[in-house]
Amino acid sequence: MKEEKRLEEKEKIKKTMIKEKYKKHYIKLLGSEEEYNLFIDKALDYAKRSIRVNTLKIKVEELKKRLEEKNWNLKQISFIKEGFYIEKEDRRDIGNLEEHALGYFYVQEASSMIPPLMLNPKKHTLTLDMAAAPGSKTTQIAAIKENTGVIIANEIDYNRITALKANLERMGVLNTIITNKDGRNLNFKKKFDNILLDAPCSGTGTLSKSLKSLTMWNPKGLERLQRLQTQLLEKAYELLKPGGTLVYSTCSLEVEENELVINNFLKNHEEAKTIKENINIKNISKPYEEYKKNEKTIKIDSRVKKAIRLWPHKTNMDGFFIIKIKKEE
Ligand SMILES: C[S@@+](CC[C@H](N)C(=O)[O-])C[C@H]1O[C@@H](n2cnc3c(N)ncnc32)[C@H](O)[C@@H]1O
Repeated sequence: MKEEKRLEEKEKIKKTMIKEKYKKHYIKLLGSEEEYNLFIDKALDYAKRSIRVNTLKIKVEELKKRLEEKNWNLKQISFIKEGFYIEKEDRRDIGNLEEHALGYFYVQEASSMIPPLMLNPKKHTLTLDMAAAPGSKTTQIAAIKENTGVIIANEIDYNRITALKANLERMGVLNTIITNKDGRNLNFKKKFDNILLDAPCSGTGTLSKSLKSLTMWNPKGLERLQRLQTQLLEKAYELLKPGGTLVYSTCSLEVEENELVINNFLKNHEEAKTIKENINIKNISKPYEEYKKNEKTIKIDSRVKKAIRLWPHKTNMDGFFIIKIKKEE
């Protein structure tokens, strides 16, 4: 019955909320109406629930055993040993579990676990998480660094800092300082070894979670976001040590917010390198190598080829775009 209701809901969304120009745009991006139909069908499904075990507090095997004893089914996510898809018949309320309150796990969409894996910060380093709330990736970075070194977790929106703070506390993070600034105005005496810019974006990779990104979608809005993302990326690079690395990610599928942001940035930075990380993710897509906009074809810098693009209907995860950039020594 639940499944039937969801299907009905999906058809209603398709009929009433999808603008013609949105559909046309995605048919162009995906190359055919058939591919678009596969995409929109998947994108409007609930994403599979997943958790990341917090190794600052518990071992992976121990938590797995505890949850399985409570009849939750856990299925390993192929590319991260701490990540599991989780389900139980007719229940989705994993956030109410005692183990959640104790900070033994974080409810996190599988693709959202990839940017910190690509950043792969070493222990005892200085890290900046430039747009951090509610902290899924900050807490993951803290776990990767085993609570060593320092993380500056910055967030512009004071209201979102409440959730960030609560998550850091719940997960037992001890190496993180919160700042509340516009990332474009950040200024520090010391430069960072590694930086995550999980940029504010249109969220078109996560439609099922936020139908707002469907109703609010418009090309003008994308240009506004692109300017902000480009400015944040410029600042991130400025704050990076020579030899340091940064990861730029968005949960958007728009070329404007991804390939074009990186392309604009690389135009000003001949010296910057991009790096490919070997992560075992199935069915990732290549980034676009050119893009037609207003009758003009933009040729995208070949360094952008190292980026990864995740389409929901191909990967079974939320949509994401991720690229790793290294500053010259
Ligand atoms: C994609 S969300 C970050 C999600 C977070 N990294 C996580 O994994 O939990 C982007 C965040 O950027 C914040 N933001 C928007 N504009 C910003 C700016 N100019 N400087 C810093 N943060 C900004 C938003 O309030 C939002 O919390």
